[in-house]
Amino acid sequence: MFTIETAATAAYVVAALLFILALAGLSKHETSRAGNSFGIAGMAVALVATIALALARHIEPLGLGLLIGATIIGAAIGLWRAKVVEMTGMPELIALLHSFVGLAAVLVGWNGYLHVEGDATGAEAAHLATEGMLGIHSAEVVIGVFIGAVTFTGSIVANLKLSARIKSAPMMLPGKNFLNVGALVVFAALTVWFVIDPQLWLLIVVTVLALLLGWHLVASIGGGDMPVVVSMLNSYSGWAAAASGFLLSNDLLIVTGALVGSSGAYLSYIMCKAMNRSFISVIAGGFGIEAGPADDKDYGTHREIDADSAAELLASAHSVIITPGYGMAVAQAQYGVADLTRKLRDRGVNVRFGIHPVAGRLPGHMNVLLAEAKVPYDIVLEMDEINDDFGDTDVVLVIGANDTVNPAASEDPSSPIAGMPVLTVWNANHVIVFKRSMASGYAGVQNPLFFRENTQMLFGDAKDRVDAINAALSESVAAH
Ligand code: TAP
Repeated sequence: MFTIETAATAAYVVAALLFILALAGLSKHETSRAGNSFGIAGMAVALVATIALALARHIEPLGLGLLIGATIIGAAIGLWRAKVVEMTGMPELIALLHSFVGLAAVLVGWNGYLHVEGDATGAEAAHLATEGMLGIHSAEVVIGVFIGAVTFTGSIVANLKLSARIKSAPMMLPGKNFLNVGALVVFAALTVWFVIDPQLWLLIVVTVLALLLGWHLVASIGGGDMPVVVSMLNSYSGWAAAASGFLLSNDLLIVTGALVGSSGAYLSYIMCKAMNRSFISVIAGGFGIEAGPADDKDYGTHREIDADSAAELLASAHSVIITPGYGMAVAQAQYGVADLTRKLRDRGVNVRFGIHPVAGRLPGHMNVLLAEAKVPYDIVLEMDEINDDFGDTDVVLVIGANDTVNPAASEDPSSPIAGMPVLTVWNANHVIVFKRSMASGYAGVQNPLFFRENTQMLFGDAKDRVDAINAALSESVAAH
């Protein structure tokens, strides 16, 4: 027989399939738009089905008002934030959104406790106990609250670090690995205790412990590993949502949470491989990374170059590689860079781009900016495709990149970014580095590249400097 309940279940299956299609679509550049549309459609179906289900279950008018009000306010804020966010601000926005999922899971868990184990009448608890389900319910409560609380504070710290409101350097409490592992052991013991005897104070202790652990886990992770942290928190938020799904008996939430949880974990794993980091070490909060000595090494002096001389050098080059980074995004220099590329190619110079997997503030950041400025796809190469070619290159332009071209990663085992694969720009004949000062990059480590003999610094805003080079090149064409 057709009921709203069966229709909602069918709608949930459709939504789950749409979410799977969304993930499949998002895995390739060409199909990513379609993937996004599938995701939007899936979410719309899920929302309509959930509201219809609530209506069919004769939800109280106050509850219905809250549900609809929250949906409208949430949608309005979401639309507004998505419209105004800068590409460079995406990771911190994503981190903030993860914190909401975590908080929601904590609230759902507490709500579950207050309606069952903590309910003074004991009616619901007695009912579950006769079905042998009370212990399972208690486990769902405590696990959901734990994962949610870790996600909540972890995501807030990630947001604060990414938006530079707190220092990105890892916090190094003495015995930090012991603190993390100890918290997990205590959590396991308290979970068993809570399942046997679900007392309020136990849930309070688990909540506080998880809030502290989430904070500590992410605070202990250094700047360079933050991209992995964001995708890891994405995974945690998925598991938190799945835990809420069990408590609310909502199959779609379980499926969606599991999809987010597992795809986030897999993305973290791929990113760890790209950065040559141990997956376990990153998810365990920088496990095994202890404080290194401060870098007060004297690297000597650096040389400077001006835009006119840079233009001359470029005009006489046969091959040029441009390696952009976060600074190109900040300066919005991609249009000038595209113009410079056209000018040099018109002169017969072989110009290519080398893109580091974590250049900028999120994977694919540079590719999106260059595509927006209409740089042809076929000259934009991944790090692995171009790294062997620097030795045969006349000039490399490092535009607002720093950590991703740091030779210390491959040459100095004591460097905090040791082992991370980098673009080997220093093998070229000439390297010109565009930045505003000698300040360090996101990971907060000094870059010996700036002091190499074949490197010259071109100080100033990347857009201004690229425009000045373009102007000098145009003048030299006019003069001939
Ligand atoms: P960074 O190492 O952050 O270096 C960017 C450089 O751009 C800075 O040294 C800065 O120097 C310069 N800059 C900033 N604004 C500029 C402007 N207007 N004009 C010219 N230069 C400017 O960037 P990267 O090389 O792209 O490396 C990415 C880093 O971010 C890695 O450590 C990575 O782990 C981390 N991260 C990556 C992600 C992902 S997933 N991609 C997410 C979060 C963090 P000045 O201040 O001297 O100008």
